[in-house]
Amino acid sequence: MKPVFATLAGLMIAGALAAAAVVGLGLYDISATDQHLQPTYRLLDASMRSSVARRARSIVVPGLEDAAQRDHGMALYDANCVPCHGAPGVAPEPFALGLTPAPANLAHTAREWSAAELYWVVRHGIKMTGMPAWAYRLPDDDLWAIVAFLQVLPSMRPQDYRARTGRTDPPRAREAAEGKARLPGDVARGKRAIQQYA
Ligand code: HEC
Repeated sequence: MKPVFATLAGLMIAGALAAAAVVGLGLYDISATDQHLQPTYRLLDASMRSSVARRARSIVVPGLEDAAQRDHGMALYDANCVPCHGAPGVAPEPFALGLTPAPANLAHTAREWSAAELYWVVRHGIKMTGMPAWAYRLPDDDLWAIVAFLQVLPSMRPQDYRARTGRTDPPRAREAAEGKARLPGDVARGKRAIQQYA
């Protein structure tokens, strides 16, 4: 065997052994209290984006300009999505901040996706993240109504969202104001809490 092939074969065996060690010995930390390593996060995020883009290509987007459709989408969003993603002026439920990856603030990220991609993500969900598939939970018209609302979400002011959905201050803000949920200081816990509260 030529030296170059021997080196390549050696590298491949070493790579396979390293991968087997990571899987078999449980070296990768899958706890949700610690974030993914930066390269892992980049790899997962890039894979998710190209997977969605590829699958959304053939989706035909219906008209999404109707005000009544958007209002219906807002009500559906408020009932089904706010617990994890929050909304302008409304915090997610505390449990959602314990998810890794943390659910994106859609008021910021919805703009990064086309209507077809949003529809695909909401319909099919995303494996290994906690993002549910809504295909068998909501009819197709409702999914498009949510997409119609997601298009205007980034430009919505907190006071308008709260007024139009009849929401008051989130419970977490009330608890903080009442001085509940206080624990003694601890730097390591604090670091984690900052990550967990995104
Ligand atoms: C149980 C929690 C949970 C619920 C409920 C939920 N999601 Fe998600 N969602 C997630 C997580 C976790 C992710 C993956 C991390 C992220 O946001 O990228 C995600 C990702 C997304 C994304 C891709 C966002 C991005 O920028 O990466 C969209 C769009 C989305 N969700 C829309 C919705 C809509 C619309 C609803 C309601 C119909 C909803 N989600 C309900 C947890 C949830």
